[in-house]
Amino acid sequence: MSKEQASHESKRAVRLGRRLRTLYRCNRMFFQARNEQELLQSICQILVSGDELRLAWGGYCENDAGKTVRPVARAGHGVDFLKRVRISWGEDDAALAPAGVAARTGEAHRAVGIQAGPKTPEWRAEAIARGFDGCIAVPLVSHSHRTGAIDLHGVLGVYTAERDAFDEGAVEFYAELAACISQAVTALRADLAGDLAHDVMALRTAEERRRSEDALRKARTDLDRVMQMTAMGEMAASIAHEINQPLGAIVSNGNAGLRWLANAEPDIEEARAALKRIVGDGHRASEVVAGIRSMFKKGGQHAAPQDVNALVREVLALVRNEVAAQGITVRTEFASDLLPVEVNRVQLQQVLANLIMNAVDAMSAVVDRARVLRVTTQVDASLMIPVEDTGIGIDPADAERVFDPFYTTKTHGMGMGLSICRSIVEMHGGRLTVAKGEPDGTVFRVTLPIGRGAEAAGP
Ligand SMILES: Nc1ncnc2c1ncn2[C@@H]1O[C@H](COP(=O)(O)OP(=O)(O)OP(=O)(O)O)[C@@H](O)[C@H]1O
Ligand SMILES: [Mg+2]
Repeated sequence: MSKEQASHESKRAVRLGRRLRTLYRCNRMFFQARNEQELLQSICQILVSGDELRLAWGGYCENDAGKTVRPVARAGHGVDFLKRVRISWGEDDAALAPAGVAARTGEAHRAVGIQAGPKTPEWRAEAIARGFDGCIAVPLVSHSHRTGAIDLHGVLGVYTAERDAFDEGAVEFYAELAACISQAVTALRADLAGDLAHDVMALRTAEERRRSEDALRKARTDLDRVMQMTAMGEMAASIAHEINQPLGAIVSNGNAGLRWLANAEPDIEEARAALKRIVGDGHRASEVVAGIRSMFKKGGQHAAPQDVNALVREVLALVRNEVAAQGITVRTEFASDLLPVEVNRVQLQQVLANLIMNAVDAMSAVVDRARVLRVTTQVDASLMIPVEDTGIGIDPADAERVFDPFYTTKTHGMGMGLSICRSIVEMHGGRLTVAKGEPDGTVFRVTLPIGRGAEAAGP
């Protein structure tokens, strides 16, 4: 081996050693880099850290009008070269730079002996000015596995000042390195896409959770509002329902009074009596309102020991006209051993009046049998007041629905009567139940606790 040959071989061995080290360090970077910018920049730095290269840079091909190859990473001496020289992957002069050729053709491109060559085009003049003698540009290309479309289109350019440094082996080495970089970039992009997908998923989950929380909150608010409205509606309906009776009485007493006064010789005494009844009805109406308000406010009304037998008689007297108008026979039976029971007088009157008026309504359609209303008081462990009729009866399927607020089968009914009755009875610690009558009709049974410990309406 000649001396010249020996020196050539040893230079080759040194280069191979350098490239191996470079490859080894780049390899590590493929696994360490967190993003493609970091990867490309680190690779450029590794490449120039040996003695072989003066400048290393990586650029991406843009789809702008000038088909620019835009540097995204750079390291080494004379990086201003990249600022001075425009590189294009199109067809103009700027495309003659090795990087432009590599990017356009997708093949590695090598230029050697630059110092001894022409100073045109521009890139050559700038390279010569910086002492670059050789240049290798290799494409950075990868295709999407899924669609086959190019998802990385760039170039890696390296410049050396050493003569003869860029032999065929160098082209092969940098082309291989570029292939590895391309793969690493693609992998990082996939990770990023995965992270993005993950973040988007997390965001979406959070958004969905927020939306369902909002919906839940809205549903709760709606429910609260409905409940408030129902309570208010029930209260208003209860007042309207219960106030109708005294109002009707006020109107008829008022009319009676007017008639007495309209006579040629006005009957002052009768008119006075009618007015007294109006005052009484007015008081009753306000008692009813107060009673219902207390029912909803759970306070304000007192229960007091009452003679329930007398109370039942009073109610029957109140409804006597309606009962008589329907040709209904009234039967009563009163428990003789009934002691005063702690109840709210007005409220229990309301209950019984409602039950009796329902019974009257139920019998108005009955023509083939006697219309009989039976109201009794019975004492056992508790006080029972069954209100029985021989009316049309209730379909067993509707037996519980009749207590629902606003449930009615009547054209002019409000459907509040039984709902109010049940609330009142239950506030007294009692129960209101319905059963089929024997042989026809219906029995509504009020059961109230008697004796000490019995709960009364209101505190
Ligand atoms: N004694 C009865 N016999 C047959 N059906 C009855 C009887 N009492 C109540 N019902 C049924 O139950 C329904 C509800 O009664 P509820 O007293 O609550 O309301 P309503 O009488 O229809 O109207 P209002 O609010 O004016 O009293 C009635 O419409 C009727 O269909
Ligand atoms: Mg009713």
